[in-house]
Amino acid sequence: MKDNKIFELIEAEKQRQREGLELIPSENYVSREVLEAMGSVFTNKYSEGYPGFEDLDGSDDDVLASEPANHRYYGGQQNTDKIERLAIARARRLFHADHANVQPHSGAQANNAVYNAWLEPGDTVLGMNLGHGGHLTHGSPVTLSAKIYNFIAYGTNPETGDIDYDELERLAKEHKPKIILIGYSAFAKIPDFERVVKIGKEIPDCLLMADMAHVAGLIAGGAHPNPLDYGFHVMTTTTHKTLRGPRGGLILSRGKVSNPLKKPEHTLENIPTLIDRSVFPGTQGGPLMHIIAAKAVAFYEAEQVSFQNYARDLMDNAKTLADELISHGFKLIGGGTENHLMLVDMMASFGVDGKIMEEMMDKVGLTLNANAIPNDTLPPFKPSGIRLGTAAITTRGMKRQEMKKIANWMRRLAEICVEIEKNGKSEDAFKKELATMREEVREIAEIFPVPGI
Ligand SMILES: Cc1ncc(COP(=O)(O)O)c(C=O)c1O
Repeated sequence: MKDNKIFELIEAEKQRQREGLELIPSENYVSREVLEAMGSVFTNKYSEGYPGFEDLDGSDDDVLASEPANHRYYGGQQNTDKIERLAIARARRLFHADHANVQPHSGAQANNAVYNAWLEPGDTVLGMNLGHGGHLTHGSPVTLSAKIYNFIAYGTNPETGDIDYDELERLAKEHKPKIILIGYSAFAKIPDFERVVKIGKEIPDCLLMADMAHVAGLIAGGAHPNPLDYGFHVMTTTTHKTLRGPRGGLILSRGKVSNPLKKPEHTLENIPTLIDRSVFPGTQGGPLMHIIAAKAVAFYEAEQVSFQNYARDLMDNAKTLADELISHGFKLIGGGTENHLMLVDMMASFGVDGKIMEEMMDKVGLTLNANAIPNDTLPPFKPSGIRLGTAAITTRGMKRQEMKKIANWMRRLAEICVEIEKNGKSEDAFKKELATMREEVREIAEIFPVPGI
């Protein structure tokens, strides 16, 4: 690369990723093949529109052998059509969906496209409170969608850490939302999809939407229930978290798929095509074909038995790490994890906030993020909690033994935070110990190489 500055920063980032342990639950390491597809010549191609929607059942070979109709606005699509159709067919198989739109540039774009497909301005959406683990795109007032639609928030029960389904049902009956949205960024339970479907079925024209951004890889690998199997109409996700693909979004749906060039009637049955039209031209321009190629590769990888093993190990590691942390005095919201996400109340555990713990962990190469806990009394930038997960370290091949090591390091780091923050000791007193711990983390990291680099 002639641009030395960028080259050096890429090399420095490779080193950072190699030498540290990634505990941020929304991050992962993609394979060499996914990286190569992302860096391919498909970035040169404009492909506004869609490849044909017919003949997407069956194997990859069946899909490649078919001759779909042309719904693109540019010529030269002989290869892009095949790439996108393979991505769609693989995603449909993985998630038992009637339709997949693989074009959303990100998880946020995917959610906004679903809102735009089904709602009129002012319509009501029932979504999870951001402060209780929901996502910004589920109704935070700082977002564009919150200016357009009327978001009502349900929360979690402080005793159980689970969704307060009674409250959700009461709010649904009262507000008659056009969408009930189940999904979260910091919530450790498996939702009761069956109960939500029962609640939603009572409300006319209510779209049931699940934002499974964090757990799509677990669903694909058979380690988490699939909301589409329970009667949800739509599932959105990112492709870069547990699903281990390129950064991007994906929308899966159940219903009738038809020609996206023709506006269908506004019915729940037609939701697949309403979504296609909402992604393009409704909310996006040209698809990122190099990213769609990489999504197709990631879906291929997720269809392999090895990915089921990955999902199983990911959960095994998460449960081990959660148990170890609890035994060291960390208080986990909900008492553990059912879906690999862990939310720790640092204030209740050690009397220090999450930001201090995040910064202390960074010093030794352990990366996670400070996070609000339900009903947090501290501000968002210095919240009470930390959030972590095992998606990335499991990709590196780490197992129970390494989880125990991580929990030990975290206990000692929490103690150091207490010594400095509460007992007024100087950070210098721990310089040597922190340097030794940094070396220990680096040694373990080197035993488990990062795939792809
Ligand atoms: C539940 C949920 N939905 C949507 C998103 C948004 O995804 P992106 O960052 O790709 O826009 C996230 C990202 O963290 C998320 O956790």
